Amino acid sequence: MTGIMEVKNATFIVSNSDYRKCPDDGRNEYAFIGRSNVGKSSLINMLTRNKSLAKTSVRPGKTQLINHFLINNEWYLVDLPGYGYARISKTSREAWKKMICDYLLQRETLVNTFVLIDSRIPPQRIDLEFLSFLGRNGVPLAIVFTKVDKQNQSETARNVNTFKKTLLEEWDELPPIFLTSSVSGTGRDKILSYIEQCNAYMAGEKS
Ligand code: GTP
Ligand code: MG
Repeated sequence: MTGIMEVKNATFIVSNSDYRKCPDDGRNEYAFIGRSNVGKSSLINMLTRNKSLAKTSVRPGKTQLINHFLINNEWYLVDLPGYGYARISKTSREAWKKMICDYLLQRETLVNTFVLIDSRIPPQRIDLEFLSFLGRNGVPLAIVFTKVDKQNQSETARNVNTFKKTLLEEWDELPPIFLTSSVSGTGRDKILSYIEQCNAYMAGEKS
């Protein structure tokens, strides 16, 4: 095992609506997806310890494009728009969905997708369906339960266990699971270590 990776440098590079226009330097990337307002952009800021890197909002629907942030000049964190945001027209919702799904299914440098789930609520059908969609399509994923600071540990544990049980009704094994708070920094080291392991694995694959 290696030590905790340091984020020495985090730089916003570009926003896109089309995965084909995203950076083409072949660097590994890690994407964050989940329902609108679940805390994707906040998690990116927590991991990079930069509160103003990704734009966050109390109102859902803040992130609208595929955003690339270059870390340590080596790999990317990718902030995506959320799904399940009700207050837009059906047409733009469809376009939005296509943008996200095309990116997740076609992007060759995408090493892992972190699917964010609100730790405060019981399993939601939209999240379960989204996870099934990724699983069916062989998109590598990990699950991140967010906002654990908003309740006590036993409530978090209860919701996480219920979620695991629900997943195991469909899946043979569970993906990696992380518990996080963007307020307290819980889960930061574990996620960064996981990314570091993935980067090391990918370096081995290439050589
Ligand atoms: P969209 O871009 O709209 O899809 O949302 P998002 O998933 O990027 O959520 P964002 O990071 O903008 O956070 C939404 C709201 O939740 C903001 O008010 C954040 O301050 C709050 N929030 C996010 N993560 C946490 C957390 O870990 N703890 C607490 N208490 N609040 C959080
Ligand atoms: Mg966002």
